[in-house]
Amino acid sequence: MPTQQPTTPTILITGAGGFVGGRLVESALEQGWTVWAGTRRSSLPDNNRSDSSTKPSNLHLIHLDYEHPEHLQEQIAQAPRWQYVIHCAGLTRSVNPSDYALVNTTYTLNLAQALMDTGKAPDKFLFMSSLEAIGPGDDDPLNPITLNSPPQPVSAYGRSKLAAEEGLKTIKGLPWLILRPTGIYGPGDKDYLAMAKLVKSGLAPTLGLTPQRLSFLYVEDLVELCWLALTSAVSGKTWLVAHPAIVEDRDYVDLLQDLFHKHRVLKVRIPLSLARVVAALGEGLGRLSGKSVLINQDKYRIMAARNWSCNITALQEAVGYTPPTDLRTGWIKTLAWYRQHGWL
Ligand SMILES: NC(=O)c1ccc[n+]([C@@H]2O[C@H](COP(=O)([O-])OP(=O)(O)OC[C@H]3O[C@@H](n4cnc5c(N)ncnc54)[C@H](OP(=O)(O)O)[C@@H]3O)[C@@H](O)[C@H]2O)c1
Repeated sequence: MPTQQPTTPTILITGAGGFVGGRLVESALEQGWTVWAGTRRSSLPDNNRSDSSTKPSNLHLIHLDYEHPEHLQEQIAQAPRWQYVIHCAGLTRSVNPSDYALVNTTYTLNLAQALMDTGKAPDKFLFMSSLEAIGPGDDDPLNPITLNSPPQPVSAYGRSKLAAEEGLKTIKGLPWLILRPTGIYGPGDKDYLAMAKLVKSGLAPTLGLTPQRLSFLYVEDLVELCWLALTSAVSGKTWLVAHPAIVEDRDYVDLLQDLFHKHRVLKVRIPLSLARVVAALGEGLGRLSGKSVLINQDKYRIMAARNWSCNITALQEAVGYTPPTDLRTGWIKTLAWYRQHGWL
């Protein structure tokens, strides 16, 4: 009797040209999975960690037309059924606030619905939401955000993620899982790189006159969690994801200063009133140039909130996972990667 060969998992990872999606693709390929990389690009960026410039045979690129449900269904009908889907494509910065709803909410729901309508429901549909979907914790007392905190997103980005989460839960038969990561840093990230560059140059501005509580997540820990969550029996759950340590903004700056061996760094606390003006100017500049800027009013509301600490007990209880990489270890690895790739 022929023995049944174990099949390797097939996965669709969207946003594959981005920071997180790119790393997920690499990791899935390293495990020997068959990967369909959802991307608008004709090739994946070569700033990734792998040295190979040739496309592996187990990697397929697909440009999904999220905007047009009928075309999207045709594309999915022609592709093999993906055992797992990680929907990582998302708009994190935009000049036009309505773009967030289109990309983060409508596109997400179109994809999930098309998978169901074509009879190609995956075993698990993992949606990369954000801590911003629930919004910041209270300022007083500064208790960590929990899953039970009432969602009060302060940004159009956060609201679009929350609306996507709510929509996914109404799609009958969809085995969804929702991750709400806090700020993710690590090799390949450009957002936190900006702060690292400033500290290296001897300047460390922080926003607001009172300390800000932050949580962080190293990208490799998120990747590890994704594999654990996909292959677990759990679905229909939402988890906040962060390293459990809560960090104050100044401690974060001090850590970077220490890792750069800088004796002097000018640490300036920018009053929120001034930051608000800069954000309004940034927003205007973005509208005029049509390009997204580092600080606009949406980003201001996120950066002005004092409490982004979060409680990950639900995640720990459900899959027994605690992101293991502390901020110092993660940043040592990240800085080494930035230097190796000439980013710093
Ligand atoms: N980085 C963080 O700190 C953080 C924290 C919490 C949650 N998240 C979420 O995690 C996911 C990945 O974040 P990231 O940091 O990797 O962001 P990123 O580097 O900006 O990557 C996002 C990717 O989404 C795709 N995308 C964006 N706009 C699109 C559009 N209009 N149509 C189709 N695809 C589009 C793009 O993929 P292609 O370039 O391949 O087309 C883009 O590279 C996002 O959903 C984000 O909201 C990120």
